[in-house]
Amino acid sequence: MGPLNRLVGALREASHCVALTGAGISAEVGIPTFRGSGGLWERHRPEELATPEAFWRDPEKVWRWYAWRQELVFSRGPGPAHTYLARLEEAGYVKAVITQNVDGLHILAGSRNVVELHGSIRRVRCTRCGHREELAGPVREVPPRCARCGGLLRPDVVWFGEELPRDALSRALEETEKSDLFLVIGTSGAVYPAAALPALAARRGAVVVEINPEETPITRIASMVFRAPAGEVLRAVYEELS
Ligand code: APR
Repeated sequence: MGPLNRLVGALREASHCVALTGAGISAEVGIPTFRGSGGLWERHRPEELATPEAFWRDPEKVWRWYAWRQELVFSRGPGPAHTYLARLEEAGYVKAVITQNVDGLHILAGSRNVVELHGSIRRVRCTRCGHREELAGPVREVPPRCARCGGLLRPDVVWFGEELPRDALSRALEETEKSDLFLVIGTSGAVYPAAALPALAARRGAVVVEINPEETPITRIASMVFRAPAGEVLRAVYEELS
């Protein structure tokens, strides 16, 4: 059976299919990835922009970068991959989406059981009083101040060296441990603990599927590999199933 038929068959048989997604799934709507050709970390140094130390050293510089990323994110809608993944959930084939992305596009596409491991760039958090707020658009003032206490606001995302939100991590582990089919879509598998989830799923006997134009450290534990853009594969799978 061709790989696509095998994936369609696996989705039909699976009782708990979970998807883990990364920046590659949003690359199709023009949001740059971090690694690989044209990736953000080719032009910027993460330790200068995505760490608490960088933020406290120069909050304005970090906020200029995040305001630029917010412009990108708020000006784009979900792509085909987000949309087909949401439809696969609606049709009962996918039970959860665990994402490393902070762009909120899975939720906008209609996915319902979404675990945002690294937070959301659409939300800010006050560094003084802890107040959280969903943004309607990119921040206008840089750096933004808390309306309640005047404290410095930060993006409500996880920076390098920071703990993941405990509830998100425990939900991700729970979904991974329940999975018997684990789709790994658009991630380089470079950042932990997210990158450990596919191996955990495989250890629990799940079939791991990689959807990524490039090879990654996850390739070696994948039973099926699709070297193609996520939108193309998920559209083909959805059309086969419906
Ligand atoms: N479809 C599927 N995969 C794609 C596509 C596409 N159309 N385009 C690119 N990719 C793949 C690339 O080949 C690469 O393997 O997406 C992957 C993107 O990898 P990264 O840029 O490293 O993104 P990600 O794995 O999500 O990074 C994890 O690193 O910087 C931190 O917090 C940040 O959440 C991020 C984490």
